[in-house]
Amino acid sequence: MAIQKSLLAALALLGATAQAAGVSRKAFGFATGTTGGGSASAASPSDTAELTSWLTDSTPRTILIDKEFNFLGSKCTDCKCCKPSSNTCGSSGQNAIDLDSSSWCGSYPTLTCTYDKAALEGIDVASNKSIVGVGSAGVLRGKGLRIRNGVSNVIIQNIHITELNPQYIWGGDAITLDGSDLVWIDHVKTSLIGRQHFVAGYEASGRVTISNSEFDGQTSWSATCDGHHYWTILGYGKNDKVTFTGNYIHHTSGRSPKLEFNSYWHAYNNYWYNNTGHAFDVGDGTNALIEGNVFNQVDTPFLDDSSPGKTYAVSASDKSSCDSALGRTCVANTLTSSGELSASDSSVLSSWPKGEFGISVVDASRVKSAVLKNAGIHA
Ligand SMILES: *[C@@H]1O[C@H](CO)[C@@H](O)[C@H](O)[C@H]1NC(C)=O
Ligand SMILES: *[C@@H]1O[C@H](CO)[C@@H](O)[C@H](O)[C@H]1NC(C)=O
Repeated sequence: MAIQKSLLAALALLGATAQAAGVSRKAFGFATGTTGGGSASAASPSDTAELTSWLTDSTPRTILIDKEFNFLGSKCTDCKCCKPSSNTCGSSGQNAIDLDSSSWCGSYPTLTCTYDKAALEGIDVASNKSIVGVGSAGVLRGKGLRIRNGVSNVIIQNIHITELNPQYIWGGDAITLDGSDLVWIDHVKTSLIGRQHFVAGYEASGRVTISNSEFDGQTSWSATCDGHHYWTILGYGKNDKVTFTGNYIHHTSGRSPKLEFNSYWHAYNNYWYNNTGHAFDVGDGTNALIEGNVFNQVDTPFLDDSSPGKTYAVSASDKSSCDSALGRTCVANTLTSSGELSASDSSVLSSWPKGEFGISVVDASRVKSAVLKNAGIHA
């Protein structure tokens, strides 16, 4: 009997260990139901080739990122770049890679440049995958991830994506959604990215939750010539539903986020810090509900777009219409040393998708310390 008991205890311990090596917590918000690789046993790929093969094959997998996977080294030398008019500061600005498919460079002066080819296109992740960092060891250096062309059910948790040609506009995007559904991005850090830290579109991205992540805009090559990154978060998917919460967005200078087309974005309990340009740019067709966030040293929290979308930002003075429309207590945003956030299009509230999918919005007074402690990758 005693032996049997300790055997059971040992088995329970083994079970607990196996469970710990994998996804932590459950998807909530609009991406509720995302299970990634589900119960697939967790395993660590040995090198970038094996990682790529596991990410792209048709087997449901729990892929542990327990070290740095370095994709750098595939240089394009003597390649074509251009110097856009935004670069008024030479080597501390961003030039642009002149991709064959892009007419972006137009009549800007051309120059030769060297960049890393691997960063230009992320790995095309297949359906039913969990990609999970172990401790704070999980790094993808020089290559991002794409979830597109009908792929669904992907979890990306606790990894750092970095060094995608940060010198260059079009140098690479960290995470791309383009024709996807059910994606949960949690505790991800992105830094030193050439183009977008996150981009959705133009195809629908379906149900998405971006939580507890760190968008670090500090760079030595700034499109706005001030050490801050401009191309941060772009939501251009059609009919997307995005829950954006617990994130730390800092040292950016624009597009944090820029949203357009027919989507719902619920941004709550995030911390914006030291943004020298705009945070929200809400364009045509997008419904944005902004509540319980903290904006600290954000020059322009809300940019009035030329073809504006629908935005409701909860303020202390106008909370009651939100409370009654959503049937719960809405939470006001807090702004310090920042510009204005004034938007009260109540059609956002009347058309808001029903059901709150396990979210809970806390008072803004609790946000800064919680986000600073919690967001990004963790041991
Ligand atoms: C992903 O998993 C779901 C549920 O098990 C399954 O129906 C679907 O076919 C899987 N997708 C792929 C591409 O394997
Ligand atoms: C905020 O950004 C500005 C401009 O880059 C920089 O000078 C300043 O040191 C930053 N402040 C902090 C506290 O990081």
